[in-house]
Amino acid sequence: MSRLAGQVVFITGGGSGLGLAIVERFVAEGAKLCVLERSPEKVMQLKTDFPEAVVAVAGDVRNYADNERVVNEALVKFGRLDVFIGNAGIWDHNASLLGMEPECLEAAYREIFDVNVKGYLLGARAAAPALIASEGSMIFTLSNAAFYPGGGGPVYTASKHAAVGVVRQLAYELAPKVRVNAVAPSGMASDLRGPMALGQETMRIMDSRSPEAIRAILPLQFFPAPEDFVAPYVMLASRTDNRTLSGVMINADCGLGIRGIRHVAGGLAL
Ligand SMILES: NC(=O)c1ccc[n+]([C@@H]2O[C@H](COP(=O)([O-])OP(=O)(O)OC[C@H]3O[C@@H](n4cnc5c(N)ncnc54)[C@H](O)[C@@H]3O)[C@@H](O)[C@H]2O)c1
Repeated sequence: MSRLAGQVVFITGGGSGLGLAIVERFVAEGAKLCVLERSPEKVMQLKTDFPEAVVAVAGDVRNYADNERVVNEALVKFGRLDVFIGNAGIWDHNASLLGMEPECLEAAYREIFDVNVKGYLLGARAAAPALIASEGSMIFTLSNAAFYPGGGGPVYTASKHAAVGVVRQLAYELAPKVRVNAVAPSGMASDLRGPMALGQETMRIMDSRSPEAIRAILPLQFFPAPEDFVAPYVMLASRTDNRTLSGVMINADCGLGIRGIRHVAGGLAL
């Protein structure tokens, strides 16, 4: 368990769900982490749980200065930066086009794109010089909604498709110094919230879905936990295990992408 020994990682949204699972596993693999997290309670918890290996900073991915502050913390405290993981995100609880009043749609668009897309770009911009210096890598959290409809409403789905463009363009621009990749998980139980613009800031993903409903739509037929998605991040971050992948988006979607024709008991559903 030391595939990331000596590596220093900047991750956004590391206070719960997938981000926290990445923090826990990366610490176990020997990494040091600096976390940018909006929730002060989650920041306090990270400081308590990981007093040595993690520097937790309260801030918002939508502010460049907050991203820059975390990069500076990494350089001052640990002397280098090897990996940036853009992960903080918000969902839209499947708010449909016609289900949103026009003024709500505009505000939801700004809020979701600012977190899910601008946040990734600002974090990448803040981290890029140090990653070029260390010849490190970036990893972005996408979603099944980066590839297929139905994993969110049009705003969330568009934001995750936009993040695909971030991955491809940055992999192109930052080669040969920085490898840029992504992991696209399917549904899981986390603290994932929606935008204030839709009155969803206290709604969690599992308020509107059940483990059984998620299990039922996944060809691999189990309800994944955040920890189940972490292995590809370790592999992509590792300097020895990933010398060749850049611009790659790993579909960790429990088989959604090969779903094809829906099977029903007794034959094919046509
Ligand atoms: N939960 C799912 O089913 C699912 C499925 C596919 C993809 N994802 C993606 O996984 C990523 C992580 O989400 P999660 O499910 O672990 O949810 P989560 O809410 O448990 O984790 C996201 C973290 O980001 C933080 N955050 C939110 N907005 C922020 C901001 N503006 N600035 C700083 N921190 C902020 C939150 O406080 C939270 O701790 C997101 O990009 C999400 O789109 C989640």
